[in-house]
Amino acid sequence: MSTIEHASAIENLAHENRRFPPSPEFAAAANVTADIYREADADRLAFWADKAARLDWAEPWTQVLDWSDPPFAKWFVGGRLNVAVNCLDRHVAAGLGDRVAYHFEGEPGDTRTITYRELTERVCQAANTLTALGVQEGDRVAIYMPMIPETIIAMLACARIGAPHTVVFGGFSAEALRTRILDCDARVVITADGGYRKGSAVALKPAVDEALTGCPDVRSVLMVRRTGQDVAVTEGRDLWWHESVDRASTSHDAQAFDAEHPLYVMYTSGTTGKPKGILHTSGGYLTGCSFTQWETFDLKPETDVYWTAADIGWVTGHSYIVYGPLSNATTSVLYEGTPDTPHQGRWWEIVQKYGVTTLYCAPTAIRTFMKWGHQIPEGYDLSSLKLIGSVGEPINPEAYMWYREHIGGNRVPVIDTWWQTETGSIMISPLPGITAGKPGAAMSAMPGIGVDVVDEQGESVGNGQGGYLVLTEPWPSMLRTIWGDPERFKETYWSRFPGRYFAGDGAKRDEDGDLWLLGRVDDVMNVSGHRLSTTEIESALVSNPKVAEAAVVGVDDPVTGQAVAAFVILRKEAGDGGDHVTRELREHVAKEIGKIAQPRQIMVVAELPKTRSGKIMRRLLRDVAENRPVGDVTTLADSGVMDAIKTGMQSGA
Ligand code: WT7
Repeated sequence: MSTIEHASAIENLAHENRRFPPSPEFAAAANVTADIYREADADRLAFWADKAARLDWAEPWTQVLDWSDPPFAKWFVGGRLNVAVNCLDRHVAAGLGDRVAYHFEGEPGDTRTITYRELTERVCQAANTLTALGVQEGDRVAIYMPMIPETIIAMLACARIGAPHTVVFGGFSAEALRTRILDCDARVVITADGGYRKGSAVALKPAVDEALTGCPDVRSVLMVRRTGQDVAVTEGRDLWWHESVDRASTSHDAQAFDAEHPLYVMYTSGTTGKPKGILHTSGGYLTGCSFTQWETFDLKPETDVYWTAADIGWVTGHSYIVYGPLSNATTSVLYEGTPDTPHQGRWWEIVQKYGVTTLYCAPTAIRTFMKWGHQIPEGYDLSSLKLIGSVGEPINPEAYMWYREHIGGNRVPVIDTWWQTETGSIMISPLPGITAGKPGAAMSAMPGIGVDVVDEQGESVGNGQGGYLVLTEPWPSMLRTIWGDPERFKETYWSRFPGRYFAGDGAKRDEDGDLWLLGRVDDVMNVSGHRLSTTEIESALVSNPKVAEAAVVGVDDPVTGQAVAAFVILRKEAGDGGDHVTRELREHVAKEIGKIAQPRQIMVVAELPKTRSGKIMRRLLRDVAENRPVGDVTTLADSGVMDAIKTGMQSGA
């Protein structure tokens, strides 16, 4: 959909006139007041310097921002710190060792309560083990794990010794793991035998073994025993966590690293095939996620029980399960499994059990709960909640209202937060003690963040108009580059509107000047709040010998936001398709990328609609997949193609 189409699709939303200001009590006790915007506007760099000073620095910085070589930013130049020490040791030293860092809830119902003291000791042990395995400052470590405390321990151990981690979502395939290990040249992999999902033990180690057949440089695999499943052990390469980390010393002298030392690489889909390794560094990133967690969620670390219900394998988990919460000495919930195991009230049972005050999740989850019915959350006591948030995709006003009413009891602020893997932390959001929220709107730029909506020419649009979302100023938690590909970094984000960061999203300013996010404007889909690239899935499809050509589009889906629809032309040898072929292709995509990328529908066609220059017109395919009248076909090389596709659809081919 073009930005223009998006803009008209939400035209009616611009007339949204419901407003939900915070209660006077919430506003009076809030961490920040409207002064924060004035503070940031008065002197942006002084503002960020003040926020960075919330962390413990071993060496102070000499310059807040070095932007002499844009778009390559350096924040807090000359400063040195240890990210893990900021998340752990300093809290223990401040007398908070007995505070709970995580209430871990495994899917089968096993639980663990981990204090800051225990977490610190475990991280020291893991750091000592990694060092013993030869991991040095700057070496990359891949982490492929279920949602268990050891995943967080592994990340912090890497941070502690200055070894950038790359966490690969446990739902990704062996092939996806292999390409990520190779791209960042990781030499050590941390994994587990498996994890629990939907009531059963799902193996992870076999995928690691398969991935490593193509990664000759990986020398060690550290394995956590989680499920007790049988695993193949490669002598000399694989070792058990309980036989190494658990026996290592609990003391470890952490050294400070440069503010710009790489902290992690997180892969995300872009418009072209190969995933991009988004690089985040230490001082600025931690400043961004630490401060925004405190500010946006009105965090009260002494009393809050904070729950980001996302996977650690995505940036949401990195910033708001691990680094933000720990740097603020927060008590968090960590839940391993799915929302409907063993029953559809599991999340609400967890909220009730731990007295969760703050819940942060994706609209796709909210829409799923809507589908299951409000009777389910009604069976639980959710009165501990004081704030609820949303992230990952546009939240439709119905979902916002349902969330507000049935989870928030019409009494707590709802915040819709916009950001990306690349931005590292929240960029656009209401501030809960200040903003009167509107259902469906992300409202305004965070203090200290420059946001604009521009037209094709890069001119700011007025109120009531849509365009492209850009960030106008560098910010501390910004990505520093694409791992190993600085040219692609410049090209992807900084060339469309020179001097500004192009996010790839459409946005609109409503009559009041408030911001609405309208979805991607490029060939990136958003399925359940996860970014997938059309090209990546197309490449996966054509790598199957039965497929000659493939086109993938994202189509509207009531639950997942978007779903993957694929149009394929089969090779002669594959015959006319049929169920067994489409099933094989779906499995093939799962194997190449992961289940999350599996097409909801695969349509076998004889031809694809192309322009005279050979570009596939995905807009027309989307019309077909969404059962709409097909739009303008005048630029098609062969205008009959769409008729053939539609006829084929109707006859069920
Ligand atoms: C893309 C980034 C940031 C954590 C999760 C996703 C979409 C994100 C919102 C929102 C509308 C949103 C955008 C963005 N998105 N939050 N509140 N409203 N859209 O991280 O995988 O890097 O995806 O998610 O399209 O570009 P990601």
